[in-house]
Amino acid sequence: MKICSDKILKIPRSGIREVFDLLLDYPDAINLCIGEPDFTTPSFIIEEAFKAAKSGATHYTANAGFLELREKISEKYKKEHELHYAPDKQIIISLGAMEALFLALMSILNEGEEVILPDPSWPNYEAQILLAGGKPVFVPTKEEEGWILTPHRIAQHLTAKTKAIILNSPANPTGCVYHKPQLEEITNITKDKDLVIISDECYEKIIYEGKHESIACLDGMQSKTIVINSFSKAYAMTGWRVGYALGDEEIIKQMTKMQEDVASCASSVSQRAALKALASGDGAVDKMLEQYRRRRSVLLGEIEKTPLTSCTPPQGAFYAFVNIKGWGQNSRDVALRWLKEAKVATVPGSAFGREGEGYLRVSFSTGEDKIKEAFHRIRNIL
Ligand SMILES: Cc1ncc(COP(=O)(O)O)c(C=O)c1O
Repeated sequence: MKICSDKILKIPRSGIREVFDLLLDYPDAINLCIGEPDFTTPSFIIEEAFKAAKSGATHYTANAGFLELREKISEKYKKEHELHYAPDKQIIISLGAMEALFLALMSILNEGEEVILPDPSWPNYEAQILLAGGKPVFVPTKEEEGWILTPHRIAQHLTAKTKAIILNSPANPTGCVYHKPQLEEITNITKDKDLVIISDECYEKIIYEGKHESIACLDGMQSKTIVINSFSKAYAMTGWRVGYALGDEEIIKQMTKMQEDVASCASSVSQRAALKALASGDGAVDKMLEQYRRRRSVLLGEIEKTPLTSCTPPQGAFYAFVNIKGWGQNSRDVALRWLKEAKVATVPGSAFGREGEGYLRVSFSTGEDKIKEAFHRIRNIL
């Protein structure tokens, strides 16, 4: 008898982890794999968490999280998107965007139902869909199309079993951002279909051109969309594990029921910290964004100076998806070569899907000097 379940054994191991494990053998490598802000959480948020813990915020909260936090999130969506979500029925606080996504998939998927997702994309989507009994259907996206999930490609993959489509804007690993015309096109082909859009917007604040648009704002789409968001990336709060979902009352009700069985609630202290972030965090977000913007331009300059290497500028998040097809080897081999010979760690594009082959994900969640030094080393091995 196999001790572990078929369900867990069919989940692939993340290709990102493989690089992290290898990194242990190269302690002097410059790490451009980082998938989170390198900043520490702004100190006024940490102070608030201290205060909250001391004043007794040390108990379980409601399954859906503190009502006060849900109220503030509802106000944010009213202010930023003119969308109304009832705090007591249409919002749940989760352990990061990660858990919100999992609860959403568990609440909507029957065995064998299909979920369309972009290839390349964040690997956890595939694993979560499989765990929830669904079938991931990868839809190719291309650098020459700006890495956007195009309506004609979505249409080619829609079947009677399609239950959901995952959109991620700004996207990990490509940095692509969906603008209104593209969201309108997706709306046009999906609005008459009985399916759910899961819109992962956790990088919404890290955007370099234009402003973040949510598909939930488009005509008739709010009730079909589960918006997933998080405090992790915007406020440098990855370790606090606070995220949330907004959506249809029935789905949020089921997600909240399941929260009782999975985690009971997100951490009470972290939820208090998140409240502070929402109330006073805008300035800190702007400062971090300014730094990412500078690093992005340094990185793009370095890539331009590096032979055989190119990149479509990312419009959001803190990743460049760098084209290394000119190196004549697959992305895993190039990543290993950069690691072993140049002592620079990146993630092979193949870790994000078949269409990621020929690319490396280079994170610019690190200092400008390190980015410059990394590319100096890479040019030296050529
Ligand atoms: C696209 C995407 N969605 C969700 C997450 C999870 O974020 P959180 O820390 O909020 O769980 C990540 C983290 O890297 C991500 O890249």
